Amino acid sequence: MSEKEINIRFHEYSSLDELDKADRELAEAAIDAMKGSYAPYSHFNVGAAVRLSNGVIVKGANQENAAFPSGLCAERTAMFSAGATWPDKAMVSLALAGGVMGRLAKSPATPCGACRQVMAQYQTKGGHPISIIMIGDGRIWKFDRVDDILPLIFDSI
Ligand code: THU
Repeated sequence: MSEKEINIRFHEYSSLDELDKADRELAEAAIDAMKGSYAPYSHFNVGAAVRLSNGVIVKGANQENAAFPSGLCAERTAMFSAGATWPDKAMVSLALAGGVMGRLAKSPATPCGACRQVMAQYQTKGGHPISIIMIGDGRIWKFDRVDDILPLIFDSI
């Protein structure tokens, strides 16, 4: 028996101004996308923005439903829209922001497991690492690829 360790490297920023131009633009798009959130049950507004290899940004926001499982997270709303609209373009980065009453939460919004799995699939499909930017008020995390937030990705297909 041997004990193994998985290390995760990521970057932390204290302001959007510390991001490079493309990431700042994507982060601002995710924050703006929070306006499209429909969250009458959780009152938690999440916005996401996906950048494609052609530079296009596709936004999404969480959409809730009285039949709870019928709703969808912001990240998957954005990724499915991007995948359906630009099937031949790789997704290169995704930003997400969350908060209550449209106000950004202090701690960065982190994607649920199902969204991470969908990110992994599009990363494989596009053949390009997808960086993930998680935005909080005064704290931003950037991970360089989906593998960093979903270690031991299921990729048997
Ligand atoms: N939500 C997202 O949009 N993304 C996530 O990764 C986590 C959760 C949404 C789903 C639901 O509308 C609300 O946040 C509360 O869970």
